[in-house]
Amino acid sequence: MIDGMSSNQRPASGSRWPRQIPGLAFGADYNPEQWPADTWREDLRLMQEVGVNLVAVNVFGWASLEPEPDRFELDELSRVMDMLAEHGVYANLGTGTASPPPWFWRRFPDTLPMTAEGTRLWPGGRQAWCPSSPTFRERALGLVYVVAEHFADHPALAMWHVSNELGCHNARCYCDISAEAFRRWLRSRYDEDIDALNAAWGTAFWSQRYTDWRDVLPPRAVPAIVNPAQQLDFRRFSSAELLDHFRAERDLLRKRTPGVPVTTNLMVTEHINALDYAAWGPELDIVANDHYLIAEDPDAHVELAFCADRVRGLARGEPWFLMEHSTSAVNWQPRNVAKRPGELRRNSLAHVARGADAVSFFQWRASTAGAERHHSALIPHAGTDTKIWREVQQLGRDLRAIQQVKGTHVEAPVAMLVDYQSQWALEHDAHPSRDVTGLDRAHALYRAAWHAGVTTTILAPGADLTGYQLVLIPTLYLVSDATAAAVSDYVGSGGHVVVTYYSGIADMDDRIRLGGYPGAFRDLLGVHVEEFFPLRHGERIRLDDGSTADVWTELLHLRGAEAVSSYRDGPLPGVPAVTRRSVGRGAAWYVATRLDAEGTARLLGRVLTEAGIEHGSHPTGVEVVRRVGAGKSFLFVVNHTDSDVEVDADGVDLVTGRTCSRTITVVGGGVGVVQEVVDRSG
Ligand code: GAL
Repeated sequence: MIDGMSSNQRPASGSRWPRQIPGLAFGADYNPEQWPADTWREDLRLMQEVGVNLVAVNVFGWASLEPEPDRFELDELSRVMDMLAEHGVYANLGTGTASPPPWFWRRFPDTLPMTAEGTRLWPGGRQAWCPSSPTFRERALGLVYVVAEHFADHPALAMWHVSNELGCHNARCYCDISAEAFRRWLRSRYDEDIDALNAAWGTAFWSQRYTDWRDVLPPRAVPAIVNPAQQLDFRRFSSAELLDHFRAERDLLRKRTPGVPVTTNLMVTEHINALDYAAWGPELDIVANDHYLIAEDPDAHVELAFCADRVRGLARGEPWFLMEHSTSAVNWQPRNVAKRPGELRRNSLAHVARGADAVSFFQWRASTAGAERHHSALIPHAGTDTKIWREVQQLGRDLRAIQQVKGTHVEAPVAMLVDYQSQWALEHDAHPSRDVTGLDRAHALYRAAWHAGVTTTILAPGADLTGYQLVLIPTLYLVSDATAAAVSDYVGSGGHVVVTYYSGIADMDDRIRLGGYPGAFRDLLGVHVEEFFPLRHGERIRLDDGSTADVWTELLHLRGAEAVSSYRDGPLPGVPAVTRRSVGRGAAWYVATRLDAEGTARLLGRVLTEAGIEHGSHPTGVEVVRRVGAGKSFLFVVNHTDSDVEVDADGVDLVTGRTCSRTITVVGGGVGVVQEVVDRSG
C-alpha cells in the first residue's frame, strides 16, 4: 500500500509545504550571531555553492532580540534575513522562544522548572522554563508577536519554526504552578467528578482516595511506588501542556501570516519519548523531525529507518521534513563516534527514501565556544578542505539530481502499531520483569522486516489499517477497546497480524483486563494465559523448533489457536510459545516469549510469505525502498555494506545518470536512486 493514500483523514502535512522551494529543501541551523560579518559573506557564498536553499535562523535568538525587558533589537536579524533574500536562500524562521535570556529569571524566578524531588533547575544551560507558567507563555507570545510583525512580509520568510524541540529538557515540571495546572487538566478530563478520578487511578489501593481536588499532586518523589495511573495522567498532561504552548505560538503566527506554514521540530529518536506525538502530528503544517544516530550502534542505520518510518506515520504518509541530523559526530553521547566516509550521504538519502522532502542539519558552521563546540557541522573547524565538506557538496548534487521525488509517497505493505502512552506505562515501576521494555520487540520485529527488505510504517493505535497486508503489534501493553476492535476487524477482513507478549494487558487507565491474558487480544489470538513466568536475568531457554528465547514465558492454553512451537525446557516445558489462529483468509499470530533474532526472522519470513509480501530478494545489508507518485516511481538502494551489490531495477540512476537495465550495481557504501521505467502509480 502507499502510505496515507487509503486514509480518509485529511493529510497532516505536505499540503502546506513552503511554496518557495521547488525541489527538495536542503539546509541547516544557521547561527550567524556567533560569527563576524565577514564570515557571513563566506557562508552565503558556500551555501550557494552547495545548493542550500532553506536555513533555520533565530532558533535561540531571544537574548539578542530582547536584551532587556521590553526593549527589542531586530536589526541584526533583519540584516541576516536581507542577506539570505539577496542570495536566494529562504528562512525557516525561529520564533526564538526556546530559551529566555538571563535577565528573565531574575525578573520571573517562578518560571524555572522543578524536578520530582523539588529541585529547581537553573539557567545557564538552555530551555529552563516551566511549560505551565502563564508568565512564560505571556512573555514568549510577546516575542512571537514582535518577530511576526517585523518579518511577516520579508521575502526570505518561507516557514515558521516554533521554539525548539519542545520537551527536550523540560518535558515535565513538578512545581506548584504545574500542580495547579495539572489539577485543572484533571478536573476537565474527569468532568469535575473526583470519584471518576478515584476510579481511574484505582485509589482504593493504599489509602489514596481523594475527596478534595486540592489534595491531588503531580507524581512527586515518594517513599514507595507512585500510583501508575497518576503517573500516566501526568505524562499525558505534560505532553498536552507543551502542545498547548505550540498551538498558542502557531495561532498567533497564522493570524499574522496565514500563508506561511508553521512547524516545530519533533524528536522521534531512539532515546526520547517525552511527548505523545500522535496528538502533535495533526497540529503541524509540516511534520518535522530531528534525528541523531546512536553512534556506537553498528546497526544505527536500522534505527534511523525505524524513526523515519515512525515520522512518516505521524505525517499520515505525507512528505515530512528532516529538520536536524548531524554531518558526523555529536557531542552529547558517551562516545561520539564519527560518521564513516559516505555515512552522511547514506543517512540523508535513507531519510529521503522514507519520505523526507527536506534534509537539514544542526548546524551550518561548527561553533568555537559554548556547549556544542565539539559538535560536527557542515563546515567543520578544519574548514572546507575536509571529508565532511566534500560529502556536503556531493549531497547537494544528489538532492538536485533527485528532486523529482518531491511529493511522492512511500510504498509499505506492513504496518506496526507503537504507542507513546503504552511505552510510558511500561516505564513505570512494578511490572513483572524489568527486562520487558517499550521498544524492545518493536525494534526486533522491525529489524527482521528491514533485513528481509520489507518497508514498514509505524502507526499510532487508531490509525487506519486498510490496505496493509500485515500488522505487527509488539508489546502493546495498554490497549483501548476501540483499538482491539479495529485489529479484530482488520484480521476479520483478511488481514494478518503478529502480536507479541505483554500486549493487551491493561486498558488506557492501566487497569488490568480480567479473564486471562493477553486481555484485549485473547479471543482474536485464540489463547488463554493464566500466569506470567518471567525468566531470571541471563536465563536462556530452548524451543522445539531450534530457536532460543529469554526474558519471558507464559502459562498459555490454546483456545482455537494451534501451537507453532513450544518450550523444550525452562519453567514450562511443552507449553506453546508461538501460536497461530486462522481467521478466514487472515491469521492472528502470538509470540509469548522473547525469541532470539534468528527465531524472530524465521517467524517473520513465514508470516510474510503467508501474507503474500515479497521479501528476502535483496542482498544483506542493502536498504531498498520505493517512492511513487502520479506517473513516477523511484527505487532507492542504500548499500550499507563495503562491497558492490546488484539489485533488480529498470530505469535511470538519477545519482550517476547511468541507465540500468534489469539491475543496478551500487558500489560499497553508495546509494542509487533509480527512476523506474515501469509506471507503478496506477
Ligand atoms: C538538538 C537541538 C540542537 C542541537 C542539537 C545537537 O537536540 O535542537 O539545538 O543542540 O541537538 O545535536
